[in-house]
Amino acid sequence: MTTSERFVGSAQRRTDGRKKVTGTAPYAGEFTTTGLLHGAVVNAAIARGSIRSIDIAAAEAVPGVVRVFTHENRPDEAWFTSAFKDMVAPDGTPLRPLRDARVFYSGQPISLVVAEDFETATYAASLVHVAYEVTPHQTDLTAARHDAFDPDEGEGDIVRGSAENALATAPVSIDRNYRIAIEHHNPMEPHATTTVVEADGRLTVYDKTQGARNSYDVVVNVFGLPEDRVQVLSPFVGGAFGSGLRPQYQLFLSVMAALVLERSVRVTLTRDQMFTFGYRPDTLQRVALGAEADGKLKAVIHDALAGTSRYEDFTETVVDWSGLLYQCDDVRLAHRLAKIDTVTPMDMRAPGGATGMYAIETAMDELACELGMDPLELRLKNYAERDQNEDKPFSSKQLKECYRQGAERFGWSRRRPEPRSVREGSDLVGFGMATGSWEAMLFPTSARATLLPDGSLEVATATADIGTGTYTILAQIAADALGLPMDRVKVAIGDSSLPKAFVEGGSATAASAGSAILKACQELKEALLTAARRIDGSPLANVGLEQVVFSSGSIRRAADESEAVSLEALAAANGNAPLSVEIDNSPSDSPYSSYSHSAVFAEVRVDAEIGMPRVTRIVSAVAAGRIINPQTARSQIMGGVVFGMGQALHEEAVIDHALGRFMTHHLADYHIPAHADVADIDVLFVEEHDEAVNPLGVKGVGEIGVAGTGAAIGNAIYNATGVRVRELPITVDKILAGWTR
Ligand code: MOS
Repeated sequence: MTTSERFVGSAQRRTDGRKKVTGTAPYAGEFTTTGLLHGAVVNAAIARGSIRSIDIAAAEAVPGVVRVFTHENRPDEAWFTSAFKDMVAPDGTPLRPLRDARVFYSGQPISLVVAEDFETATYAASLVHVAYEVTPHQTDLTAARHDAFDPDEGEGDIVRGSAENALATAPVSIDRNYRIAIEHHNPMEPHATTTVVEADGRLTVYDKTQGARNSYDVVVNVFGLPEDRVQVLSPFVGGAFGSGLRPQYQLFLSVMAALVLERSVRVTLTRDQMFTFGYRPDTLQRVALGAEADGKLKAVIHDALAGTSRYEDFTETVVDWSGLLYQCDDVRLAHRLAKIDTVTPMDMRAPGGATGMYAIETAMDELACELGMDPLELRLKNYAERDQNEDKPFSSKQLKECYRQGAERFGWSRRRPEPRSVREGSDLVGFGMATGSWEAMLFPTSARATLLPDGSLEVATATADIGTGTYTILAQIAADALGLPMDRVKVAIGDSSLPKAFVEGGSATAASAGSAILKACQELKEALLTAARRIDGSPLANVGLEQVVFSSGSIRRAADESEAVSLEALAAANGNAPLSVEIDNSPSDSPYSSYSHSAVFAEVRVDAEIGMPRVTRIVSAVAAGRIINPQTARSQIMGGVVFGMGQALHEEAVIDHALGRFMTHHLADYHIPAHADVADIDVLFVEEHDEAVNPLGVKGVGEIGVAGTGAAIGNAIYNATGVRVRELPITVDKILAGWTR
């Protein structure tokens, strides 16, 4: 069987682009229905304790208020906490909104006011009066670190050789501490759920989520509903970055209110309330590196301590990168947690990776300085040809090419090793670089491919497009498989009733949903050929799948392409019944380890008088297997790089530890890079063929754009100024504090 690839590998505009820019792509908080009610959430004002009393009389008295829900009057729900556990819940007991009087964190939802309109609900919510029993809280990780614990009792540690001994005897060494700030995801679209009660009592739930199926499972389990009574839809998602991986409290509250009131209810979180759930955790890290005088690594030690909530143990992969990126036989890596009184942290773009690679990649730069060696040379010197953590070969690894092509594009050879040695006008100019990596995962995914009566194709799986381009790449894959133009392929996603898929996360959707769609299309081709053979006088009566091609909307004999059956004719011959196949696809045990890689190069300019840093140029050279769509993939990397810039220079959620509350809770206080902060981002895809990772050869892109970017910028700032800031974000005050003139 021959396959021609017209679309996979070519730049394609987003199939949903027009809808999005014309405002006709509906988001969860925009779906409407007659008689829709609106909910406003009241959030707890203390960090720990309980509700002594909650007075809702004034709120209830407001004309237009329909009901005020609290823990005292909420309906019954599932008793077992397991019902609240979503697909990606960490160990512990998930927050059960309005469960009882206990308060676990400032911002916890404690009441829902439902009214005929949003403004009335919001006003009435301000009248809910709460008296608290306050328990002393701790939100400061520095103080809480004395009670650090190991969430997996040593299981997660990586130890090979004797890193302490190797470090002690290494001719050159560094031992440094790093800290990153808490970050909030801040997608453009705030979280919202619109629960529509249909005439027959079924619930159509429009939810902002990265996994319609994840939200669906939780709704069905928590409220004990029959499976066919609920459908969760999330056709469009306005960014999520991990904030939509776990169902959020507005989903629970919206469905709860709709069930009790038997009316449709929308609950939208405000921008402020976007700071009342998950975040990238505060993490303290120590990295110690030992090396021979020639730069060969002798010892790698990486310890990380992150905050988690009282009720769940959120963990991420922070330290493992330090045993993976470079060849070293004496390694000790450990990740610990400490309980603080906040909401449970959550995956945020390149979770763990953005954290850990910031530390190891800054430490590598510091070691290079200590050695008097070029930082890129040091990385090449210690290049890992094998995954030492797993003791497996890589299925592919074009990182050397990333280094080479990235350095050339950037002009790395012009770098002056001596810090503070390049001045242009009022600016100190510096170059920095770092390595990035991200695991190429594959999640179990089911998919369906259907030949519709008009001869067009529909492919379906319950994954999501969170702005990444999933609709587009799935259409490319399916169009090529069936030899159709892209506009003859309908992609159905974002719907819990479709074949089951995992959450859209981990940059694994191109691989997971893509492989499942490809497999479904391949099986559909067999079914179509079987049907084509049965047509009276079929020119394909005696041919097998390897003797045909699917092209221009027909199945054709490869030997003579004029002998063909068109998909339209096939659909008609099938009596207008759709021909459909459904498959399951799961990862298989692999002898290989699969990661995407990047080399990130940054140029910064720091004002020599006031210490203001600006990133003026980034080159991100990425090897991520096959790139299905260079246009959407480039956007993914650019977005990732901007996230890295935010982490390096801007983003910081500040807690007032006396109140135990986030004080940065809107975009005026919580800074993200604005257009003026983002200059020249050059994305380069390095060719990488990988037959082993999955049949598509795809590793996925997105988070790889974040990994390493923060370190590259910090390293450039050091090169520009001679100031090494070891706490993100690198702000003017921290640069000035280290200023030497
Ligand atoms: Mo990503 S943090 O898996 O959405």
